[in-house]
Amino acid sequence: MRARFVAGNWKMNGSLRANAGLLDALKAGLKRSGNLEYAVCAPFPYLGQVSAALSGSAVTWGAHNISEHDAGAYTGEVSGAMLREFGCRYAIVGHSERRALYGEDDARVAAKFIAARRAGLTPILCVGETLEQRERDETESVVGRQLDAVVSAAGAPALADAVLAYEPVWAIGTGRNATPQQAQQVHAFARKRLAARDPALAAVTILYGGSVKPGNAKELFAMPDIDGGLIGGASLSAPDFIAICAAARR
Ligand code: 13P
Repeated sequence: MRARFVAGNWKMNGSLRANAGLLDALKAGLKRSGNLEYAVCAPFPYLGQVSAALSGSAVTWGAHNISEHDAGAYTGEVSGAMLREFGCRYAIVGHSERRALYGEDDARVAAKFIAARRAGLTPILCVGETLEQRERDETESVVGRQLDAVVSAAGAPALADAVLAYEPVWAIGTGRNATPQQAQQVHAFARKRLAARDPALAAVTILYGGSVKPGNAKELFAMPDIDGGLIGGASLSAPDFIAICAAARR
């Protein structure tokens, strides 16, 4: 059975005080449950707080970004080894906000993916098309290209226990989620594309992200190739995030 997984992406939100309440509620509300895992991905300055607050709980944690370099003169960057040193488990790589706003191309995303693996972190690799690309019927070519770039650079075995997130850009923060059928179609395509490179990759955990809420999570997570979610806005509300996690239980 493939792993089920729900991860929160807080994006650039939070404060010590707000985080404390949220983390306490998650620790109390999320218990170990079969093959379902939970994580929160928080801004760098809060990772120490997150680590301490979630210690001993069923919830793991990750970072939003990682340098492709291991150390050196890279002002403003954070290395995988630094994250790993104090217990970080996941690093999001290739989020569409980083691709669009910070110029991260496929080659850089692949380098960050490899850096995460080198440091012993599990990358959460994000892929997805823009609205214009979908309207031009380019969804599969865009997602296929984004996947191929990482598989070719990192090698198929590096993806075997990584996490993939399909996040259509037009669904992020817009309140307009992909329909379960639209998402399923791309997830099935991505799984097939990966399996063509190495049959072992058919079992990769693939999350859907983009306006997941308690009201739509269950029908999205019921689709055969959707293994959970990467949750933005709704992960800032403990009741909403806990309800979304419950919807991922099988
Ligand atoms: P929203 O859930 O706010 O649409 O964000 C999705 C996302 O970008 C998660 O990485």
